[in-house]
Amino acid sequence: MDARAGVIAMSKVRIERLGKVFDGHEATPALHDVSLDIADNEFVTLVGASGCGKSTLLRIVAGLETHTSGTVTCNGRPVTGPGAERAMVFQHYSLYPWLTVIENIKFSRRLRAGRENLTSSDVEAASGRADALLNLIGLAKVAHAYPNQLSGGMQQRVAIARALMGRPQVLLMDEPFGALDAQTREVMHDLILHIHRIEKTTIVFVTHDVEEAIYLGQRVVLMQPRPGRIHSIYPVPLPARRHQDMKHGEPFRALKAEILARIRESAGVTTDTELLDRLNAGGDADTQ
Ligand SMILES: Nc1ncnc2c1ncn2[C@@H]1O[C@H](COP(=O)(O)OP(=O)(O)O)[C@@H](O)[C@H]1O
Ligand SMILES: [Mg+2]
Repeated sequence: MDARAGVIAMSKVRIERLGKVFDGHEATPALHDVSLDIADNEFVTLVGASGCGKSTLLRIVAGLETHTSGTVTCNGRPVTGPGAERAMVFQHYSLYPWLTVIENIKFSRRLRAGRENLTSSDVEAASGRADALLNLIGLAKVAHAYPNQLSGGMQQRVAIARALMGRPQVLLMDEPFGALDAQTREVMHDLILHIHRIEKTTIVFVTHDVEEAIYLGQRVVLMQPRPGRIHSIYPVPLPARRHQDMKHGEPFRALKAEILARIRESAGVTTDTELLDRLNAGGDADTQ
């Protein structure tokens, strides 16, 4: 095996010289020359101002969006569409309101399984998996509740469990906690880190919140707009086991200041108010 093959074998997701131009957007490619290797069981966060291509990149890795140039592989195979080894969690938890929590978790699995070939041991295994996930997300007590009886944070936990049901190797998360209040988000951060440890998934997590990116990521990939590309990649100088107090420590604060300064610089803004506006601009909106 040559050195190059060795690298490929170690990468879970490999993005090489990726480019994306949307029709009608010739002047500003959504993504330009993006290369990134993501290792098995790594937790990578993508951060950057609105419009820098974070969602587009994630959707291409998910196989929900095509690309214009370059390659994306998962387990060494080119991504040409969605696959069971990759699951996505969006900001707006898309649960079925007419199904209970446990039914929502089993739903994707039920859709995929050829119903006529389903054996009782398949059903048993699926039930066991769903119960284990319910415990993992701490919602065993509300297994039979309906989504509208749950808080936003609880609904997002169910959406995460549903994504995990088919044991994906890669979990792609696009601002999954963006709609939650600050306290609920902290709880969700520790929960997703716990899930990452237990399930051993590779996680690619998109956010415009620098603190969230550092707290969760083993590496933070900073993107910049016009054209959407990688500005820099920062290894996070924190122990693997995170706890909230680390946010007050010097390594965390220094990295946060550094990343915010780079965003400010690349966005061409000078005041913090302008920077906040830029970071918080609607996810789908362009920044022009
Ligand atoms: N479906 C689409 N059609 C045309 N342009 C798009 C589409 N989706 C995104 N874009 C454009 O691509 C760029 C990157 O968008 P996006 O990936 O949503 O950025 P982010 O998630 O970082 O905010 C933006 O300029 C955006 O307007
Ligand atoms: Mg987005």
